[in-house]
Amino acid sequence: MTSARRLAVSGVFLGLAGSAALLLGEGCTGMFAGCEEKKGEAPPPVAEKISAPSAPVEPLPTPQVDMRKVLLGRALFHDKRLSGDGTISCASCHSLDTGGAEHRKTSIGIQGQVGPINAPTVLNSGLNFKQFWDGRADSLEEQALGPVANPIEMGASWDKVVETIRGIENYRKQFEAIYPDGVTQANIVNAIAEYERSLVTPSRFDEYLSGNQHALSEEEQKGWEIFQKVGCISCHRGPNIGGGMFQKMGLVRNYFEMRGTPLTEADNGRYNVTKNENDRHFFKVPSLRNVELTAPYFHDGSQEKLEDAVRIMGLVQLGKELKEEEIKAIVAFLKSLTGKLPPHARLPEGGENDPSQTVGGTS
Ligand code: HEC
Ligand code: HEC
Repeated sequence: MTSARRLAVSGVFLGLAGSAALLLGEGCTGMFAGCEEKKGEAPPPVAEKISAPSAPVEPLPTPQVDMRKVLLGRALFHDKRLSGDGTISCASCHSLDTGGAEHRKTSIGIQGQVGPINAPTVLNSGLNFKQFWDGRADSLEEQALGPVANPIEMGASWDKVVETIRGIENYRKQFEAIYPDGVTQANIVNAIAEYERSLVTPSRFDEYLSGNQHALSEEEQKGWEIFQKVGCISCHRGPNIGGGMFQKMGLVRNYFEMRGTPLTEADNGRYNVTKNENDRHFFKVPSLRNVELTAPYFHDGSQEKLEDAVRIMGLVQLGKELKEEEIKAIVAFLKSLTGKLPPHARLPEGGENDPSQTVGGTS
């Protein structure tokens, strides 16, 4: 994504009223219950300056990747030797069988340690403008440095990991064939990130966007219309249908009060990175691609059902009580975003922990 577009995407939505007008060509009318509460507030300055918002959605781009790195990264992503006690790989928490995320509320790392937050999917993560719920990593490379050394995730030391990988002849040879400086920490995370960048999942919705009207059922098309009309698209937009900006969880109504359980540090969101009070409870708007597969939902993993996540979004982000039939249609639309993994995504049968399987994978 170019930085210009990134800017456009993240600048579009700074306030509900402004963007509603911007995107839907309407004033703050009764359609947005949230507008009422926002009345009298100054219009968001940045939204006003944007003359042409970026395309609200667009089909997935084809990733430009080096397949040698991708296959090497695939082996590393699935290799438990990247963890301190050899029990956990990236794939343990981001299994391709569960949409690149996991079905736990929050993650469990080595020695059964429970993490503070729900694991987002790695699928299409290369399209996100930043990584992590709070955006603390600017790139997938920077992101991948984190879990290996995180004591409650993989709990390893990078020096040790580099030494281990260098000591495995097959890995060493492949690194040397691709990278002039062979096995290094930077090259390990680069290969993993390249693999992640290759994990794009085109769906029926992309076919629809590319002009095939029959790719979506009537119900799904109705859901897509409602999704745009009520304003979900203000935040969940761009090629990843999300992943392009930070937004407050509970923009219009207080989500955390509604949830009723004590606040955690993770609930602070972006505030934990910037220490700016205005960023409290802001999170990266998650991609909705493959959302059918990635329950439970929200950073706190509090919602098991997609229907409930959609209902809550309507309430807390838009101040709108969605009708059951609207929720049903939106959920049908969201399910059309479930995509196909590229053929090289999975390790070949029986290939776990065998780096020799990186050569000869399909591409
Ligand atoms: C113990 C479980 C666990 C392991 C192991 C793990 N992750 Fe994660 N991953 C998470 C959690 C939880 C988050 C969210 C953390 C946050 O946002 O603060 C996350 C976030 C991410 C993200 C950010 C996605 C987004 O949209 O922001 C990427 C990419 C990712 N992990 C890749 C990896 C890679 C690569 C590895 C291996 C080097 C790995 N993960 C190992 C649990 C795990
Ligand atoms: C003001 C911006 C905004 C609007 C409008 C909005 N969302 Fe969200 N959405 C978010 C943010 C931010 C999160 C992450 C919140 C969290 O995890 O605490 C999110 C999370 C979600 C999730 C959970 C995804 C996951 O992987 O956990 C779903 C599903 C969702 N939104 C659907 C919708 C739908 C459907 C609408 C319209 C009815 C909508 N959103 C409107 C910002 C928005």
